[in-house]
Amino acid sequence: MFTTIAALRSFVQDQRRLGKRIGLVPTMGALHEGHVSLVKMSLEQCDLTIVSIFVNPTQFAPNEDFTRYPRTLENDVRLLETVGSPVVFVPNATEMYPADFEATVHIGGVSEPFEGTIRPGHFDGVATVVLKLFLASQADVAFFGQKDYQQLCVIKKMVADLNVPIDIVMGATVREWDGLAMSSRNRYLSESDRQRAVILSQSLAEAEKMIVTENIRSVDTIRQVIQSKILSVGEMTIDYITVADPLTLKELTLIETRAVILLAVRLGQTRLIDNVLVKVCGSGR
Ligand code: PAJ
Repeated sequence: MFTTIAALRSFVQDQRRLGKRIGLVPTMGALHEGHVSLVKMSLEQCDLTIVSIFVNPTQFAPNEDFTRYPRTLENDVRLLETVGSPVVFVPNATEMYPADFEATVHIGGVSEPFEGTIRPGHFDGVATVVLKLFLASQADVAFFGQKDYQQLCVIKKMVADLNVPIDIVMGATVREWDGLAMSSRNRYLSESDRQRAVILSQSLAEAEKMIVTENIRSVDTIRQVIQSKILSVGEMTIDYITVADPLTLKELTLIETRAVILLAVRLGQTRLIDNVLVKVCGSGR
């Protein structure tokens, strides 16, 4: 396990000299099968895998759950050992953000709508820490989950615009048995809210079916169906339901070929997000 950037860099430099392909899986810990699936992808595709565990303060707003975010380092390390013992990088806050730290990475465009509007500054924090992790790890490839689809778009745009020499690979969303997308925040849910939460993946699946098999292409129609399903279980406040172009995240009114349906809701103290990528062939209503 490494805790300093200097120690990690010197270890990785030696590995690179040996010609090893380095994979990075950035996380905030409280690891679950979603994280594990990314680690497994990296272990398969790379000679050396680094998993970073850092609850990044700069991506949380003051009113958000930074202090109560689950920190389960011992369990995380034990879980990673069962998967194949990747290198673990666990910096502390002053290692990543010394007292005189002043830089911010801001990616416009894709970082602005949806999560960017509801959580101002969130993606600045994400982009800044992820760029630091890319530089600290000198990885050839980094793995991110579709679960946080807008985050993935922001990282891809950062890599493209700043010519960061790293490949970005997307891993599919791993779900609980009933369809709920796995998330470190699911543990905040009460038993009754946990049952309600399944409506998110169910409504996305219904929307996908309407588009792909019933040939419905109107975003308004799709949005209304999702909205009424979500509201029918009670207790949920919808932050957004949107249908967008999967590359630019520009909102669509009509689904022509490809789309991503993204949603975010609040349930008690917990915020949940989910999404589905949809591909259609031919024309429709
Ligand atoms: P965290 O929420 O810990 O997620 C780490 C990675 O795991 C992200 O790429 C996320 O998309 C992926 N992930 C989470 N749940 C998943 C699921 N159910 N299936 C597949 N992948 C899943 O995302 C962050 O941390 C942070 O913003 C970070 C990128 C580490 C920067 O601080």
